[in-house]
Amino acid sequence: MFSSPDRNHKTPVWEQELSAGALCFQLLLAANAAGWAGVWLTEWLAFDPVICAAFGQKEGERVAGFIYLGTAKGMIKERPRPDMNDRISFWPA
Ligand SMILES: Cc1cc2nc3c(=O)[nH]c(=O)nc-3n(C[C@H](O)[C@H](O)[C@H](O)COP(=O)(O)O)c2cc1C
Repeated sequence: MFSSPDRNHKTPVWEQELSAGALCFQLLLAANAAGWAGVWLTEWLAFDPVICAAFGQKEGERVAGFIYLGTAKGMIKERPRPDMNDRISFWPA
């Protein structure tokens, strides 16, 4: 997924770039809702000019991420999570 901001558009470039990220997230949600499994990865591919050219990258575009979609063959392995009570603040306390 490329971010391809129009630098002459009234919408700030930063906002356009963020919208590319939002699109990636929405795509994963939609895929999940439709029964697919998906993951969003960046890794070195996103910064390799040969790979990016092969995907048709144009001047001024940047990889927002690679979205991998497929059929889930099992449950996703969970990892240790922080205790949410340590992360959430309530105020007034
Ligand atoms: C924008 C974005 C880029 C990511 N890029 C990578 C990556 O390059 N390599 C990687 O191993 N995981 C990457 N991930 C996956 C995250 O490291 C993480 O595993 C994933 O968001 C799931 O979150 P969780 O592990 O807290 O469940 C990326 C995730 C996002 C949202």
